[in-house]
Amino acid sequence: MLTTERLLLRKPTVDDPDMRFHLEQWERNGIGKFVVVRRADAAVVGRVGVQLLHPETWQTVDGDDGEPELGWTLRPEYRGLGYATEAARAVRDWYAAPHLVSLIPPDNLASQAVARRLDAVPRGSIHLPDDGTYVVWEHRA
Ligand SMILES: CC(C)(COP(=O)(O)OP(=O)(O)OC[C@H]1O[C@@H](n2cnc3c(N)ncnc32)[C@H](O)[C@@H]1OP(=O)(O)O)[C@@H](O)C(=O)NCCC(=O)NCCS
Repeated sequence: MLTTERLLLRKPTVDDPDMRFHLEQWERNGIGKFVVVRRADAAVVGRVGVQLLHPETWQTVDGDDGEPELGWTLRPEYRGLGYATEAARAVRDWYAAPHLVSLIPPDNLASQAVARRLDAVPRGSIHLPDDGTYVVWEHRA
């Protein structure tokens, strides 16, 4: 469990809606997406964490060869408050990987703004046949 000024980040449980996939990631890889909870009222505001991606196909994989990708999603009513940046910074610092990226579609300006606030830098782009183009944002250790 991680805590920040306003948030608590915990591993998902079977009782968390829409988190079964992320729970399985934790069980298989020891890492995954955290459930982000607002400390003031225990509201679940979103999910932020690390998934492992194949370095060529960028599909989700299990095991040590996966490239860690830091991602964030907030429920609509909790956007515009700084929670994504606050939570992602906590995960980045805790995970402390020598190499950590975020894949962000070029038209997702809100997500790019989170990456910029985290001091990540764009390092080229990739095209996924079924999924479109993503800019690879690299986080600084
Ligand atoms: C991407 C996403 C998480 C960004 O959410 P967000 O709320 O814009 O980002 P943050 O939580 O970091 O909040 C930053 C905003 O809160 C504002 N803010 C308000 N109070 C704040 C505070 N106390 N501290 C910090 N920022 C604060 C900031 O000024 C900023 O606003 P701005 O964008 O108008 O400049 C959100 O849009 C989302 O969930 N989208 C759908 C899923 C998605 O696209 N995920 C990413 C896939 S690549």
